[in-house]
Order: sequence, then C-alpha cells, then structure tokens
Amino acid sequence: MSLDMPNAKPHEALATLLAPGMEAVNTLIRARMASKHAPRIPEVTAHLVEAGGKRLRPLLTLATAELCGYSGENSVKLAATVELIHTATLLHDDVVDESHQRRGRPTANLLWDNKSSVLVGDYLFSRSFQLMVETGNLRVLDILANASATIAEGEVLQLTAAQNLATTEDIYLQVVRGKTAALFSAATEVGGVIAGAPEAQVRALFDYGDALGIAFQIVDDLLDYEGDAKTIGKNIGDDFREGKLTLPVIKAVALATPEERAFWVRVIEKRAQSEGDLDKALALFAKHDTLNATRREALMWSETAKTAIATLPPHPIRDMLSGLADYVVARLV
Ligand code: IPE
Ligand code: IPE
Ligand code: MG
Ligand code: MG
Repeated sequence: MSLDMPNAKPHEALATLLAPGMEAVNTLIRARMASKHAPRIPEVTAHLVEAGGKRLRPLLTLATAELCGYSGENSVKLAATVELIHTATLLHDDVVDESHQRRGRPTANLLWDNKSSVLVGDYLFSRSFQLMVETGNLRVLDILANASATIAEGEVLQLTAAQNLATTEDIYLQVVRGKTAALFSAATEVGGVIAGAPEAQVRALFDYGDALGIAFQIVDDLLDYEGDAKTIGKNIGDDFREGKLTLPVIKAVALATPEERAFWVRVIEKRAQSEGDLDKALALFAKHDTLNATRREALMWSETAKTAIATLPPHPIRDMLSGLADYVVARLV
C-alpha cells in the first residue's frame, strides 16, 4: 500500500492505510450490533450502520495505536467500541433533535419510533461496554466510561442552553467539548494507552483529539447553515428550527441592534418562526460576518490539534493526522 495518495482526503488515506484493521472493526461492529432475541435491534442498527458514516473515530483509535507502535488486537476492539458508542449517541441525538435525516437516510426515529431509537441506543451502549471489557485494560475502561458520561452531560447541558439567548461562547465550548470532543479525545487517548506510549505522548494524543473534536463540531454547526443537505446527508437548518444557540447565532446575538435582538428573541427563544426567518438569520450572519468569525475559531482549534500532534515522533500517520486537522475545517461533508 502506498502512502503517496496526493488527492485522497486525509481520512480516506488513513482508511486505506489501515484497511485490514478497519475491516476487522466493521466485522466486529456487525457482530455486536446483532441480537438473538429482539429482531427490531438488527433492523435499526443495520439501517444506520450500513448507511456508512465516515468512521472517523475508530480510524483515530487505530491510527494512534499504530502511530505508537501497537500491533496487538485490542486496538480493533477499542475502535469498534468507540464507533458503537458514537452510533448509540446518534440514535439518541436524533430523537432529542427531532431530526429526520441522517447519513442520507430517514432517521430511525422517523422510520420506526422514538422508543425504538432510545432502547436500541441503550443496547448499543451496553454492547460497547461489553466489548471494551474484553481488553482487560482498566485504564481504557476508565477513559471510555468517562467519555460516555461526559457526552450525555454535554447533550443535557445543550438542552438547557437551547432557546436561551444568554448562552455564552464559554457555555457553547463546554457543550461541544462534552457532546463531541470527549469521544474524539477518548478515541485518540486509548490508542496511545493500549500501545503503552509514554505519558507525554498520551497527553498529546488527548489534546489532539480534544481540539480536533471541537473544530469538527464547530464546522458541523456551520454546515447546518451553509452546507448542502445532499452532501452532508442531514437536513440544513435543523439547529435554527430547534432554537439551538450555536456559534454563528451566539456571535450575531452579541452584535445585534435592539431590532435584531427582537428577531432572535422571537425565532430562538419563542421559536415562533415563519417562512423567510432562516434567510433573515443568514442575512444577519452576513451583516456581522459571524460565519467567517466562526470558521476562524474552528481554524484556531485545528491549529491547536496540529501543535499537539507535532510533539509526537515523526511518522507518516502523524502527518496524516495533522492533515486531518486541516481537513475537518475545510470539509463539506
Ligand atoms: C456526527 O458525527 C455527529 C457530530 C458530532 C457532529 P459524524 O459527522 O462523524 O457522523 P458520521 O459517523 O460520519 O455519520
Ligand atoms: C452531535 O450533535 C453530538 C452527538 C451525537 C452526541 P449534533 O446534534 O450537533 O449533531 P448532528 O448535526 O445531529 O449530527
Ligand atoms: Mg443532532
Ligand atoms: Mg444534537
């Protein structure tokens, strides 16, 4: 396999390099998402899992483990654990967000119902815990159990921050760190831990994952306003309709005239939205240049991620992870 793939996106190049491991991860995920007793489980899980997804988080675990010289089988188990946790959170998240599209398909909550999504999500969480226990490594159990708690905390914090115009950029960062970056940093940290990497490297891998996850979510929030539904496989404007205080809105509220503030109170706090309001919001973003300001924040976190990974010894995977930090800010998917 050649590393010379100038046109491949960094995660695609990583996926090619780590193809045998990723295949094993996918096989393991399929085996563990099944159920002997409840046919609804494989129906729902296959619908979501077979739709693909970027598989970024398991790639991060395989990549960081290999980068640190690991050659055992536990990295595949951990990578599958991480993706199962991610899949569980997606099922729950689409219920909470009342979303109708995911990975280019109707969401499970739309095709089946909220009850199925919640319960199958719980099942996947539990299956992921069974899988990580098989590694017999208490430290990785600690990291992944903590990450799961932190994700749930982030989602709940977001719930109480939604529709509240007093939400600050600090609270937004706390939400994003919890709901998204916690799994990215756990994914990269366990790669180093399972490889027995020196503490300074494990810390650098954590910092890389944390910053990468923050940049990734900031861009995801941008795409919710300026993305293309076909490309991202999710509906545009979901955050706006939900009254979610993401960075472009927080920044526009901070710069609002009294008249503009009245608009934000109506559409976000009261969620009394009508035709044309999303366009009006986009016009206010343009007026205050908040989409660019948001992109700059994502770029800053991407730089933080690159600085962290640069402290690791030279390795082709290190450079690909650095490229991935550039890509998450430039991505359209
Ligand atoms: C979606 O994550 C949830 C967020 C943290 C924004 P991804 O964009 O990685 O989802 P898939 O797995 O590729 O569908
Ligand atoms: C994703 O949050 C975080 C989790 C799934 C825990 P979002 O709600 O912002 O992500 P999308 O846009 O639905 O993928
Ligand atoms: Mg959502
Ligand atoms: Mg959400």
